[in-house]
Amino acid sequence: MGQIQLLGCGHACPAHAIDNQQLEKIIDTSDEWIVQRTGIHSRYVASAEETTSVLAARAARQAITAAGIDKKEIRLLIVATLSGDQPMPSTACLVQERLGMMDQSIMAFDLNAACSGFLYALQCACAMLEEGACALVIGAENLSKIIDWSDRGTCILFGDGAGAALIRRSEQGKRIWHFAQSKGDPKRVLDIPGKTLSDVPCVNVEESYRYLHMDGREVFRFAVGAMEESIHRVLEKSPYALDDVDLIIPHQANIRILASVARHMKLPMERFYVNLDRFGNTSAASVPIALSQASEEGRLHEGMKLLLVGFGGGLTYAASLIEL
Ligand code: ACO
Repeated sequence: MGQIQLLGCGHACPAHAIDNQQLEKIIDTSDEWIVQRTGIHSRYVASAEETTSVLAARAARQAITAAGIDKKEIRLLIVATLSGDQPMPSTACLVQERLGMMDQSIMAFDLNAACSGFLYALQCACAMLEEGACALVIGAENLSKIIDWSDRGTCILFGDGAGAALIRRSEQGKRIWHFAQSKGDPKRVLDIPGKTLSDVPCVNVEESYRYLHMDGREVFRFAVGAMEESIHRVLEKSPYALDDVDLIIPHQANIRILASVARHMKLPMERFYVNLDRFGNTSAASVPIALSQASEEGRLHEGMKLLLVGFGGGLTYAASLIEL
């Protein structure tokens, strides 16, 4: 728990989107199958120029503008990603440079907890921030570069984008509670064995090792239990009950996963913010993009209780409960 103010949010999408009809032309699939099994209609795909750090910096600029602060107040910059521009420098340092923040006292680093990454980063930022200081917490991905576009079991699901949140530790802030856990993944149900970016030459690895591999059914089973557990565990740390939560912003993986969680927890779907129909699964970017869109749509109000929850490769899962 801590005194944290959510000052502003932002997000960035690539210029180009691919809808299900376009996918029908490159793999053996149908719009009907994809919509019924996943709820996804379209996803953004980045060009070579729209790298993870480019998208992250665009989202960050929007968050800084929304927060109305001087960027010199930022002391911490964390980018959650599994598809950073390059192994080194970190994507966070590239974003620092793109934002022109080279001459200020700032700690910038990347964090990889797959689709739970933004929630892990938020928890780290809250723990590390000193009184009065601000942090930029970003989730950004270029998953299209690590997807096998001939594998219909995965390429229909994922998209590119970035989301950012600007927070400050302050006595005027509100309370925030976190839960995060990881399990290991002995069966490697979510796995990218080789280098992450397709333009990095892989040494001694087969071509397919570059790509994301997934056991969809196992991930589905894990996801439903992990989201429920995360919601219960973060609520247990707070004085609130499930009924007190005004809006749940979940990791946007599959509408059937969210419907199962809603059914098990006896929650109406309206309590969940959903934008996966237009974005697909953007991994670490999914929760902050949804947070930023919810904010733009006027869905966030002072006094409300907001619950962010996610799961991902690792296997990881996490939740944060925020008083706005
Ligand atoms: N189009 C048409 N048919 C397809 C497609 C497709 N795109 N993909 C698979 N199929 C076929 C399969 O080949 C199979 O055919 P068969 O019965 O003849 O063998 C049939 O559809 C059923 O396949 P399943 O894999 O059992 O389908 P399922 O209902 O489980 O849906 C899906 C697959 C959508 C991947 C689902 O399992 C899922 O969403 N799992 C969770 C994935 C997820 O959330 N991943 C994100 C992880 S987060 C991170 O950290 C990256």
